[in-house]
Parts: sequence; C-alpha cells; structure tokens
Amino acid sequence: MAEPTIQTIRPITKENPYRLCFVCLGNICRSPTAEGVMQHEVNHQGLSSFFEIDSAGTAAYHVGEPANSKSRKVAEEYGVKLLSTARKFESSDLDYFDLVLAMDRQNYHNILHLANGEAHHSKVYMLRDFDPQPDEDEVPDPYYGGINGFYHVFEVVQRSCRSLLDQLKVKIEK
Ligand code: 4NP
Repeated sequence: MAEPTIQTIRPITKENPYRLCFVCLGNICRSPTAEGVMQHEVNHQGLSSFFEIDSAGTAAYHVGEPANSKSRKVAEEYGVKLLSTARKFESSDLDYFDLVLAMDRQNYHNILHLANGEAHHSKVYMLRDFDPQPDEDEVPDPYYGGINGFYHVFEVVQRSCRSLLDQLKVKIEK
C-alpha cells in the first residue's frame, strides 16, 4: 500500500519546530509509547531541536499518571524511556499541534468531534496510515491483555513512527 503524503507539511526549522501529538484513550499505554519512540528516534538522529513531541488521551480516567508499567518495561527493553504524564486531549491541541495521530478509529472520531473547520480536520491522521506493514488500521488497545500485546504495540508504533519521521525529515531546513 502506498504511504500517504501529508498535504500540510510546512518547512520545519529550529525557530518553528514541527509539533506532533499522539493520541489514544487513556494516555498511559499506546500514545506514551509513540511519544517515547518518536522522541528517541528524533534524538538518535540529532533532530531534537526540530520537533516538539507530546501525547494525550481522549478520556480522563488516568490523568496525572505515568505510563503503564508494562508499556515502560517493554520500551526499556528497546532502550526507550517513557516519561509522559497522562493528560486529556483538548480542542486547543488542534490549534497548537501541526499533526495529531490517533491510535484507533474511536480516538480518531473523538478527535474529529473536537475539530472546528478544515484547518483542524487536515491535521488528524491514524498513526497506522504511516505503517509500512499495515496488516490492520488500528494500534490495538493492549490494556486488558497480556504482555505480548504490549510488545505488538511497541513494534507497530516503532515502524510507523520511523516511516512518519522519514516523511517529515525532508521538510527540515537547516
Ligand atoms: P491506552 O490504553 O488508551 O493505550 O492508554 C488504555 C488505558 C486505560 C483504559 C483503556 C485503554 N481504561 O479503560 O482505563
């Protein structure tokens, strides 16, 4: 499947870094993993001044909590630290961020529900739109399952974030 192109990628500079927000339901498993993985990739490639990376949840159940212990354990095995504190996604996030990446269809629709006009709509994608191996279109919710689901989330998120970063990088102006 061809990867989507982001119509709205603007030039990315140190003065005006590109702002990404990953969004799931609770902001304790999938989106903190994506935030940590993308920050790790960006740091590893020496691009941290060009990006601002965050995450949020569409529900408030876990606001204030660190990432889930299983998510942190799996990420640490891959050398990635998850440092987020859960917060709820707000409509003002659609003004602030350049790109908002939903983990599943429910998150996607809940984000669009807060959108006001085409400028907001055009910022919202599913993370798996960027998965080079898209065997399904959602990052499955691992919360109620065993550790294998958390490994699966990590692997899907890592390859999707790498492919997204490859697309964004071409717009960096050094
Ligand atoms: P996340 O996982 O959306 O990937 O952070 C979940 C966390 C908590 C709940 C559901 C999913 N919950 O129902 O509390």
